Amino acid sequence: MNIQNLQEKFYEVFGPGEDVREYFAPGRVNLIGEHTDYNGGHVFPCALTIGTYGVARKREDDKIHFLSLNIDDSRVMEADINNLEYDDSKGWANYPIGVVWAFGQKGMKLNQGFDMVIWGNIPNGSGLSSSASLEVLTAVVLRDLYSFDNLSMTDLALIGQHSENQYNGCNCGIMDQFAVANGKKDNAIFLDTSDLSFEYANIKLEDAKIVITNSKVKHSLVDGKYNERRKECAKALKQLQTVVDIESLGDLTEEDFEKYKDVITDAEVQKRAKHAVYENQRTIKAVKALANDDVETFGRLMNESHISLRDDYKVSCDEVDLLVELAWSIDGVMGSRITGGGFGGCTVSIVKNDAVDNFVKKIEDEYKKKTGIDAEFYIVDIGDGARKL
Ligand code: GLA
Repeated sequence: MNIQNLQEKFYEVFGPGEDVREYFAPGRVNLIGEHTDYNGGHVFPCALTIGTYGVARKREDDKIHFLSLNIDDSRVMEADINNLEYDDSKGWANYPIGVVWAFGQKGMKLNQGFDMVIWGNIPNGSGLSSSASLEVLTAVVLRDLYSFDNLSMTDLALIGQHSENQYNGCNCGIMDQFAVANGKKDNAIFLDTSDLSFEYANIKLEDAKIVITNSKVKHSLVDGKYNERRKECAKALKQLQTVVDIESLGDLTEEDFEKYKDVITDAEVQKRAKHAVYENQRTIKAVKALANDDVETFGRLMNESHISLRDDYKVSCDEVDLLVELAWSIDGVMGSRITGGGFGGCTVSIVKNDAVDNFVKKIEDEYKKKTGIDAEFYIVDIGDGARKL
């Protein structure tokens, strides 16, 4: 599939005419800083070169139409700009429709409809942000087609997050949409989610590669566990605020946390908060290490991140733990951890160049033997953020 195929399909389904435009939004992988973005902490994601493509054109009436080429026998999903009520039967189209709705919520109601053909190469439910990619893609389309020229890429990310929170019911943080919108080739983004200030960090791993391994176990963030973690963190924060003046868990150092933690009455909730605090500090340390070309420390912090996500935050699962443990056992692996929202999805590993073949072979074999599942591997190529093509 390429952009020309999308255009051909567009003309076939929506008819000939002028001013058909093309767009792209990437997926993202998070290197470290997991479940910190709704706790006022730091994250360190980068945009990928895989992502979602869109071809779009304005219509004369009030209809909006979406066609996905990822689904066999896909039908055109339709909504009306004057009636954007959430409708379960619209399935995946609720993501782009939600973005149109969110524009309206922010005072940018469309004055006419549009048609859009979509295709993407991010595996769904893999933790590589296929939904944020689709949201930010739609936001870029709307900004361009309707000339909302004063919106920055960060504004588009916030609109995407708003639609996911309020329309699609997942109370996600800002990391995914932000990385998809603001990605930069060969750079990761060191983002402080407490004020959205950020810096790009060049990822120049001379003798290693970043490898994503897909467990093929699907997660569903909307299904409650993710929102449950958010609530647990909010509860911990509330109790901590009775003894220390903080706005978010990201305001605490490890020492502060140890000093005040006993005010958190529920032992499990205390573990969630511990993860949020320690993971934020780990992320700050990891980015410093990378700036000093200390990839070894970066890798060790990635491993610690996994242990914390597995044992304290409890968002891993057996299959993903197996992938990580296999990775840890291989010579030349500098670090490996679960990435993304969790409950399945992908791991991210830093692997020495000359160990990559062995890494893939060994994990492929062992994982298949133990789970019956064919894992998939992607060598990360860090790309630019969402854009008009
Ligand atoms: C999902 C959410 C993000 C973030 C990660 C966990 O990807 O969309 O906002 O919370 O989980 O780090």
